[in-house]
Parts: sequence; C-alpha cells; structure tokens
Amino acid sequence: MSEGKKFKLAILGSGHGSNMAAIAEACRTGQVPAEMAIVISDVEGAGILTRAGERGIRAEHIAPGKFRTKLDEAAEQTYIAALQQARVDLIVLAGFMRILKGDFLRAFPERVVNIHPALLPSFPGLEAWKQALDYGVKVTGCTVHFVDQGIDTGPILGQQTVPVLDDDSPATLHERIQQAERDLYPAMIAALLRGEIQVRGRTTVRRRVN
Ligand code: GAR
Repeated sequence: MSEGKKFKLAILGSGHGSNMAAIAEACRTGQVPAEMAIVISDVEGAGILTRAGERGIRAEHIAPGKFRTKLDEAAEQTYIAALQQARVDLIVLAGFMRILKGDFLRAFPERVVNIHPALLPSFPGLEAWKQALDYGVKVTGCTVHFVDQGIDTGPILGQQTVPVLDDDSPATLHERIQQAERDLYPAMIAALLRGEIQVRGRTTVRRRVN
C-alpha cells in the first residue's frame, strides 16, 4: 500500500476483541495510519462488538448462514457488500472463526490478513496454543499472515516468539500469546499500510520507507 494516506480498516472477529482493541488504540495514537471503518462479527452479542461499540466504532453482526465453519453463499455476498460499501483498504481477521474462500478472497486480493496463535507452519487450525502445549514445544508464539485459499497457509508478514513455561495451562499460555499478539498485529498492519511489506512469492520482504 502507499505512504501518507489515512486508510480504512475492517476487523472481523468472533470472540472477545482484545486484538481489535489493541488495533483501535494503535489507530488512535497514530501508530497505525488508519481509521476503524467497521467491525463485523458472525456471533451475535460477541464481546468484540460490545468493545467496538464502546469505542464509538461501527459494529455489526452479520449472520453466517447455515454452515458451522464457513459462510454460506448468501452470507458471503452480504459480507462482501458491507465491506465494499465501507470502502475498506484492509480486512483484518482477529479471532474470526470461519474459513474465508473463493468469492470473498477474489473480492479483496492481498487485502485480507489474519493472526494465528502459533508459529506457523506449526499448529495450524483450532486451539493452536493447546496443540503446542500438548506437543511439548518449549517455544511458540503468534504469526501474522495474508489469507489465501488454504487454512493458515498464506505468506507470513511477521512472527513473535513466546516461551512455554513448565507450569503453563492452556489458559496461561494463551494469555501470554495474546500479549504478544497485541504488539505484533498493530506493528504488522502499520508496516503493511506504510508500504514497507511486499509479497514475494510464498513469503514477504520488508523495506524501509522514510
Ligand atoms: C486470538 O488469540 C487469535 O490469535 C485467535 O483467536 C483469539 C481471538 O482473541 N485466532 C485463532 O485461533 C484463529 N485460528 P480476541 O478476540 O481477544 O482478539
């Protein structure tokens, strides 16, 4: 993306909205050169909608339709229309627990990013912090990546490591990963919007913009 412009972000989430809150704060302070145009959740009454509303951010529930893990065709079109109408430059998935494919990704090429609570390609899918704990790794973390047609497979923008402690429970490990997410995600979104990150094949490269 380019320099000197104020961008519009959409955030899609299904949960508590701690990443959304960190990104909103980073927009407020100017760390991220963007405004929060809209927050959308597939879960009615989700914490992310309440937290967005408290910050005066437009917050909408859009029903996902008949499937459990993805949007049905009608819902997908409703999501696309809402995002196009809000004229967003970047779609930020923050705990959005539905797979986005086909028409949705074609509508926003290289404009959808996600945060995953593990160091990809390790532990894709659900409850990645629990997968890491069950496996017995000593270091895990979080990954910001572009969303492509696979599950947690798109080009990686950045990663942050987090130690696994001997007495960690799934909850304590997830909380430590989420602290790292609240640093990494705003920093990666800012770098992307400032034009510092470019996709090169399967990965991305960083260049400094003054
Ligand atoms: C975050 O930890 C995020 O990494 C995870 O959901 C949580 C949402 O928390 N996402 C996934 O597991 C995606 N596969 P939040 O609603 O407090 O930001």
